[in-house]
Amino acid sequence: MSASTDSWAAGATPGTDAEYASTGRLDELRAAEYRHLDGQAYLDYTGAGVAADAQIRAHARRLAGHCYGNPHSENPTSSASTELVERTRAAILRFFNASPDEYAVVFTANATGACRLVGEAYPFGRGSRLVLTGDNHNSVNGIREFARARGAQVVGVPVRGADLRVPEDDLRGALGRRRGLLVYPAQSNFTGVQHPLEWIALAHARGYDVLLDAAAFVPANRLDLGRTRPDFVPVSWYKVFGYPTGVGALVARRAALARLRRPWFAGGTIQAVSALGGWHVLARDETAFEDGTLNFLSIPDVEFGIRWIEDIGIDLIHRRVARLTSWLLHRLAGLRHAEGSPMVRVYGPAGTDRRGGTVAFNVLDSRGRIVDERIIARDTAAAGISVRTGCFCNPGAGEGAFRISERALRDRRTLRRGMRNLDEYLDLLHLPSGGAVRASLGLVSNVADVERLVRFLQETYGDREPDARGLRPRERC
Ligand SMILES: Cc1ncc(COP(=O)(O)O)c(C=O)c1O
Repeated sequence: MSASTDSWAAGATPGTDAEYASTGRLDELRAAEYRHLDGQAYLDYTGAGVAADAQIRAHARRLAGHCYGNPHSENPTSSASTELVERTRAAILRFFNASPDEYAVVFTANATGACRLVGEAYPFGRGSRLVLTGDNHNSVNGIREFARARGAQVVGVPVRGADLRVPEDDLRGALGRRRGLLVYPAQSNFTGVQHPLEWIALAHARGYDVLLDAAAFVPANRLDLGRTRPDFVPVSWYKVFGYPTGVGALVARRAALARLRRPWFAGGTIQAVSALGGWHVLARDETAFEDGTLNFLSIPDVEFGIRWIEDIGIDLIHRRVARLTSWLLHRLAGLRHAEGSPMVRVYGPAGTDRRGGTVAFNVLDSRGRIVDERIIARDTAAAGISVRTGCFCNPGAGEGAFRISERALRDRRTLRRGMRNLDEYLDLLHLPSGGAVRASLGLVSNVADVERLVRFLQETYGDREPDARGLRPRERC
């Protein structure tokens, strides 16, 4: 998102804004195809996208109209499934401008499954290094356990400053002279920060492979793999168009896939195997990574979903989300208690320069103290507003947002006590809250969604003592 669009003159609103008005087609679409959103203030697009009626109708029509069998056989119902699965692979590659000669699509259950495939098979060893940005989802952070188990060096590069970005010099330093794997998100699921895609070429020049976690980026941004050329790209399709769940993909360079060493084989992954002989030969293509029967009744819904997004236009979606994010940030920054103190502290960039539509914040009381995020979770839920609270499976961004020192986090006494009681752990770290509040925008978000949240915050917490009665102890972070 560009900084040039990021201002609201006094009195300006999205209603008077030409750029916002140019995305009006999305309002028509919402009225026609997303009626199940009526009455909802859905602000959790980084959690999951929303599905159009048309997607559900297409699914029902397809299943009612034909019989689909288990793929990869010659029989007619099987070939019908195989054809749709292969068409979906091709659609995914086109969506990302990836050449089928260079890239392959491995179907997984979700982005997490894609990360695991890479982690468990990457040739980590004593001489190699895994470099992780501090800002990463836990499904990516978990790769470090595979790296450690095989003796690779694991290096983290923390987020810094008010914007919670990763300084490029720090990243260059972390890459060092060894080779290995760099993993980072194209967009943070905590702060919405968009980390530079130029880091892919930078890491390649140092002999690194790159896993670019695109799960939070692709729902509202164009990802051009032909230009950026990361090695491994995990995606969850429900985040892009809401339906189906249970289908993700690892989009990977064929050359990078060939360097992976799978720790096992399973039905569907092998070219040949002998039970008595004790040997196996994995399939030569992407199917070597697809364990067992694919979700063949849902995978074709991804082809439909991609066509749906392409018909709407990813650039139009991007423009809507960018302009509305700018408005949300502007409105949150303007929320004040009567005597003028701010009601909200935003974590990450205050504007829309190099950031997506995910906004993390805490509500402050009139004395500047953070309102416990469990209060916000309880009250927004009661008001029919879908936001998220906590650390969003991104501890590194949370540690940066709350400025927790590495020393405190490595203190074994704190850790031991924290394992027993999460609330006590937060106290030991001097944390005023167990996490932040996250509002995230997407495909058919509108001004009314944003205004409902902002009005709710003003009316519920402006100059009021928050009601902390009846909060349950925290069970997970
Ligand atoms: C940036 C990012 N990466 C990975 C994931 C994991 O996705 P999934 O739970 O669909 O596997 C998420 C989920 O929120 C995410 O936001």
